[in-house]
Amino acid sequence: MLTLWAPCALQAWAAQPDMSTPIQAQPKAVAAFDFVPRDPAKIPPGEFGDKVRKGYDLMVNTQQLQGRYVGNHLNCSNCHLNNGAQAYSTPLWAGYLAYPAYRAKDHHVDTFAERVQGCFNYSMNGKAPALDSPEVVAISAYAYWLLMGGLLDLSGQVGAPVPELSDKQLQQGGNDPSFVLPEPIAKTIEQMGRQKLPGRGFPALPAPASAPSPDQGQQVYTQHCAVCHGANGDGTYANGMTGMPPLWGEHSYNWGAGMHRIDTAAQFISENMPLGKPIQLTPTQAWDVAAYINSQKRPQDPRFNGNLTSTAHAFHGAEQCYYGQTVEGVLLGGEAQPSATGVTSTPSAK
Ligand code: HEC
Ligand code: HEC
Repeated sequence: MLTLWAPCALQAWAAQPDMSTPIQAQPKAVAAFDFVPRDPAKIPPGEFGDKVRKGYDLMVNTQQLQGRYVGNHLNCSNCHLNNGAQAYSTPLWAGYLAYPAYRAKDHHVDTFAERVQGCFNYSMNGKAPALDSPEVVAISAYAYWLLMGGLLDLSGQVGAPVPELSDKQLQQGGNDPSFVLPEPIAKTIEQMGRQKLPGRGFPALPAPASAPSPDQGQQVYTQHCAVCHGANGDGTYANGMTGMPPLWGEHSYNWGAGMHRIDTAAQFISENMPLGKPIQLTPTQAWDVAAYINSQKRPQDPRFNGNLTSTAHAFHGAEQCYYGQTVEGVLLGGEAQPSATGVTSTPSAK
């Protein structure tokens, strides 16, 4: 039986921004904080409403940007479930309130729009639209609207129109003193911290007793996942539409995406999969199946510098992942693959 523990281990020296800096997973909130994002069916008519609606549409049918900004067969909402609205599935509303966010690693402040770009470049294996592009602005508007609508409802201003923001403001996010929270809940949220709205990210999962096993994970996969995602993990795709999303291979997320980390995938899976019957796997099964899907081939990390070892050191040093490691005789991240831009890169290993 193969067991491999992951930390790619070595010193990280960040040369470029690492857009996939992990969100700290939190235990699920026990005390009820009954935030409910505004229902997208209530997006109002008018110019601002149209922008919000476009953001919603891009989240659920991101494939309309295939070949332009998207390089795989995923939609944003395949990971950000329920149109980006579902708590504990990295919901957009909690994310919106958390940016701008300071990242100690490279002394950079990420705006919300920059974080959206990160998911285009890695999770969607594409080439992100510009910060002030209609696409990034629309997704930001949708995230803002889900959040602010829910906050207004929670403040007793049920159904009150969401104040319009300029495109520039929308790109920033809500973690800025100039971003006004509605009374009377403003104080509660400030005490909690704008980056810690319950429901943000994924819930923490107990650490595994021993190293996760891709081998055991394969059995979990066959039993609980293959029926939808396919024996080869490639999901289903027809007429430019994603049916079941791919978990690995050339049409899935790349080696720079947050989901390639074993811990992040285990948290997501434990909370959300199998779809419709979540929280069914034991934590060990979730860890093992995460190790299995993340020990398969997938598109190259776009930050690949021509050398697998030094790319692994630079960007994967502190992660629980298999980038640059050999599992079942396959050197991961070492396969030649065309990038989203059509350039084929052949890693020189070790
Ligand atoms: C393959 C799964 C996947 C897809 C597809 C995906 N994301 Fe993400 N996204 C994640 C994960 C995982 C995280 C959290 C990463 C972490 O913990 O570092 C995340 C984080 C985010 C965040 C920050 C949330 C926060 O609370 O900080 C935003 C905003 C976001 N994604 C937007 C998008 C958009 C917009 C798209 C489509 C263009 C998209 N994502 C597609 C997996 C995905
Ligand atoms: C009943 C069908 C079904 C089963 C069974 C199922 N999934 Fe999924 N899975 C989906 C669908 C559909 C989505 C996209 C959800 C959406 O768009 O709302 C998804 C999304 C995902 C994603 C994020 C998107 C991506 O492609 O990376 C991962 C990871 C994932 N599933 C892993 C698993 C694992 C692991 C199992 C087994 C434990 C599993 N799923 C079982 C249907 C299923």
